[in-house]
Amino acid sequence: MNLDLGGKTALVTGASLGIGRAIAQELAQEGVNVVVNARDGERLAAVAGAIAKMTGARIVAAAGNMGVADDIARVVDSGRREFGRIDILINNAGSSPAGRIHDVSDETWFKSLTLKPMGYVRCARAVIPDMRRQRWGRIINVIGRSGHQPRPWYLVGGAANASLLNFTKALADELAPDNILVNGINPGPVQTPRWDDHIAQGAKTTEAAADAVLAQMIATVPLGRVGTPEEISGMVAFLCSERASFITGALINIDGGGTRCI
Ligand SMILES: NC(=O)c1ccc[n+]([C@@H]2O[C@H](COP(=O)([O-])OP(=O)(O)OC[C@H]3O[C@@H](n4cnc5c(N)ncnc54)[C@H](OP(=O)(O)O)[C@@H]3O)[C@@H](O)[C@H]2O)c1
Repeated sequence: MNLDLGGKTALVTGASLGIGRAIAQELAQEGVNVVVNARDGERLAAVAGAIAKMTGARIVAAAGNMGVADDIARVVDSGRREFGRIDILINNAGSSPAGRIHDVSDETWFKSLTLKPMGYVRCARAVIPDMRRQRWGRIINVIGRSGHQPRPWYLVGGAANASLLNFTKALADELAPDNILVNGINPGPVQTPRWDDHIAQGAKTTEAAADAVLAQMIATVPLGRVGTPEEISGMVAFLCSERASFITGALINIDGGGTRCI
């Protein structure tokens, strides 16, 4: 399938590992020039170099913390300087610790929510003017199934993701007249460094063995396994393309069938 994305430019946040890295690589393989972002500049530069070498696309590394407004402005500006505009925003940088109501301090709540959802909101706000001017844009929010599958030991992440489901749908309505399509992806368990942390934290908060927590999580997935980042990135590239030009406000579960609602 020709996705016809050649020459577009994208900003992918949280792109040095896991799902973000796979998305950056997938878009680059489709001929998209990509601004990759993460906090650790050294690791990010190495990933940018590897993707550029592998795909021949122009990849710009813009280090910064997406939980900090000034960093977001700087990262978006560096993309604009390099490529003239941002056509595609992939909001992906986010991580909330596991924990029950009495485990999570105010500070942890605020820090997590300042990154996700607020980082997603701020990044969207920063790129919308370019997209509006050219009457073309794609915003994909990587969210998570905990937004509509609440679990008492993942309170912060669940609340953050629930707010992003709502934000994605409302923003899709707001931007549809400008031909800016906004969609959300809800990954189920995906094998990334974060997933390994998630299992370790789950083991700590439930006082169970990590193997038992993993088995319990996999038991909720009809396909009986954890997914791969590439099983997310293919759908993201499709949603960015012209082939998905009538899809907006969709919240797509990529979860091995694990989400229990119709
Ligand atoms: N993996 C799953 O099972 C799963 C399930 C549902 C939803 N998700 C969602 O998918 C997204 C990606 O998850 P992942 O599993 O791929 O995570 P990951 O493997 O931990 O990778 C996270 C990436 O984000 C960067 N990052 C972290 N904090 C950042 C910040 N404050 N500012 C900028 N970059 C930051 C990290 O690099 P630095 O540390 O250098 O910044 C890294 O590149 C997250 O929003 C997560 O909630 C994942």
